[in-house]
Amino acid sequence: MKPVFADAAAIDLAVTLLRQGRLVAFPTETVYGLGADAANPLAVARIFQAKGRPADHPLIVHIASAGCLEDWAQLIPESARLLAAHFWPGPLAMILDKRPEVSYAVTGGQDTIGLRVPDHPVALALLQAFGGGIAAPSANRFCRISPTQAVHVEAELGDAVDLILDGGACQVGVESTIIDLSGPVPRLLRPGHISRDAIEAVLQRPLLMPSPSVVSTDQAEMRAPGMMAVHYAPQTMAILCSVERLPEMLQTLSGQQKKIGLLVYTHPFSENTSSCAIIRMPLSAGGYAQALYSALRELDSQNLDVILVEQPPQTEAWRAINDRLGKATALTGVV
Ligand code: TXA
Ligand code: MG
Repeated sequence: MKPVFADAAAIDLAVTLLRQGRLVAFPTETVYGLGADAANPLAVARIFQAKGRPADHPLIVHIASAGCLEDWAQLIPESARLLAAHFWPGPLAMILDKRPEVSYAVTGGQDTIGLRVPDHPVALALLQAFGGGIAAPSANRFCRISPTQAVHVEAELGDAVDLILDGGACQVGVESTIIDLSGPVPRLLRPGHISRDAIEAVLQRPLLMPSPSVVSTDQAEMRAPGMMAVHYAPQTMAILCSVERLPEMLQTLSGQQKKIGLLVYTHPFSENTSSCAIIRMPLSAGGYAQALYSALRELDSQNLDVILVEQPPQTEAWRAINDRLGKATALTGVV
């Protein structure tokens, strides 16, 4: 399926397809989503089929505005309204108690639902024209790198999707921050562009933080795929490496005649790197996040033996990036 420029006619077609229970990939500010009518369990089932994702993994439902919260959630706490007022439209998803009539197909069998208002003109135009909620996980195959351009969706899903709306490259580049507000204390489930500090400042209370990720096939971890340790992974072996250890790693791997890809941040070019495929990343956390998935995808396409990733700063501003890099390299770890 070739991407189609997201003009008014394409959005009309997308609405028609969604109403027929078909799948439409669309841009958001974070990553491209694989959308279906959230009120149609058969349409939602197609998402799981297209992604190869187990049916007990819950999806985020995209809505046009905070005014639609009541259509999907109940017992909505004041904290949810505060966060919606501050951050929507934007890269924040909230987990709330679902209304009884919301299908378990979309919540993966859970009594909670993930909701977000995306900050992208195409996504918002689509939501407004459609009039309902659009369930949309990232438009990649299960556990693979999320797409940040329409051509990535085409490469991931081919004809498994009925329409791909092309709205250009995503500005944020990593998936939304997810906050669970269904329990007594707000909990961060997935770090993203909206930081812990920004959320705590609005809520005026500390967030519970996710437990450190471990490689696990445990069912509880599997429930939220963004929280699984092995996720967002390139097919090529990827190793996270401190800048101090990079020269040594490069020497060892070159000695083994390995074809090396380098995702670097500050590391200077040297004679050791002359035969490597190198992508130099932006120095700001925002620029780095925006470029990350397409850089991993690019290196993954080059038939390399190993991708060495220079470890970025371990500060709060880089939390989402470190989270995704940790998962992309979870099978090999940090050296
Ligand atoms: O930025 C984003 O959120 C993108 C764009 C397309 O909006 N979507 C996205 O969806 O990343 P997905 O399905 O790849 O990740 C959604 C995450 C998963 O980790 C899922 O388990 C979690 O949200 N989630 C959704 N509903 C949940 C619920 N009721 N309880 C716990 N986790 C939930
Ligand atoms: Mg995903």
